[in-house]
Amino acid sequence: MKNIYSNIFSFNNKTLNKTIIFLKKGNVVGLPTETVYGLAGNAYSKKSVEMIYKLKKRPKFNPLIVHFLSYKDAEKDVIFNKNFFKLYKKICPGPITFVLKKRQNSKIHPSVTVNMNTVAIRFPSHRIIRSILKKIDFPLAMPSANLSTGVSPVNAENVSEELKRRIKMIIDGGKSKIGIESTVIDLTNKPKILRPGIISPNEIKKILGLNIKIGSKNLKSKSPGLLKKHYSPGIPIFLNKKLFDTNHAFITFGNRHRNISNYFNLSKKSDLKEAAANLYEILRKIKRKNYRKIYIVKIPNQGIGIAINDRLRRAAHKK
Ligand code: TXA
Ligand code: MG
Repeated sequence: MKNIYSNIFSFNNKTLNKTIIFLKKGNVVGLPTETVYGLAGNAYSKKSVEMIYKLKKRPKFNPLIVHFLSYKDAEKDVIFNKNFFKLYKKICPGPITFVLKKRQNSKIHPSVTVNMNTVAIRFPSHRIIRSILKKIDFPLAMPSANLSTGVSPVNAENVSEELKRRIKMIIDGGKSKIGIESTVIDLTNKPKILRPGIISPNEIKKILGLNIKIGSKNLKSKSPGLLKKHYSPGIPIFLNKKLFDTNHAFITFGNRHRNISNYFNLSKKSDLKEAAANLYEILRKIKRKNYRKIYIVKIPNQGIGIAINDRLRRAAHKK
């Protein structure tokens, strides 16, 4: 347990029990998931939910995802439909979030859903979060554990760097395997992807047997949290670049590029899954090395590349 971050704990029976006590008291905890690390609190508790918004400096109009162990636990809060069950069967637990109608008598705190009649739910697969969910009788509201508009954390140290000493407990679950946030799909009407992720539009299309829309401009009112500027390392990013400048960081992809100290390769073998897993850590590394600008090559816009490009576009957005 010895490390320079005194709020990071390895996972064992003792820290599991401590986490449960923390959560039951309405405190918040940094937890690993297979996508990115989250800042977790009791979704039914006003105290926990308010603390989450405050610690993240998250705008009050950006709703949170509620995490459950299985659909059975979510039944009393959410109204399911056929498309939900089709996707749930094939993908869950896993990196997908469903926007569904909230039950009128749900105990989910209204701030979680910013008073909307829909709620986003997810069933994470990471063994640590599942062992925690097994031991509590409330779901976890859990946004990514970064400050609002910043880059999501993919390991325990990232969480500590983001939230500093304001968070007392972070459970170390190693590097997040997927490395970018879950795919968010709205199932309240015709299925529509609000946030692309590892689960690609094609995969969803195959499972549902119908065409699905990918978020458009009128998304804004539908998912107020899908801010244009997001995932930002805090320095300017320039997309689809071929040229480079030795003073600036250059993010590459594939084996075309040489090993130069200001070159950072997302995946030498041109594997988009690997690129997604490396993306946020590379953005942080570049920031740590004090580069002032980031140039990045064009990333193929297919499959997981759609999600990577979505994050890069937002990271590059100025306001
Ligand atoms: O992979 C993930 O989903 C991670 C891990 C920790 O589970 N969580 C995550 O949460 O990325 P967050 O808060 O960073 O992103 C949640 C997204 C936001 O864009 C938010 O606007 C959207 O989900 N969202 C939440 N509730 C919604 C709702 N009722 N309708 C539409 N969008 C919603
Ligand atoms: Mg986030």
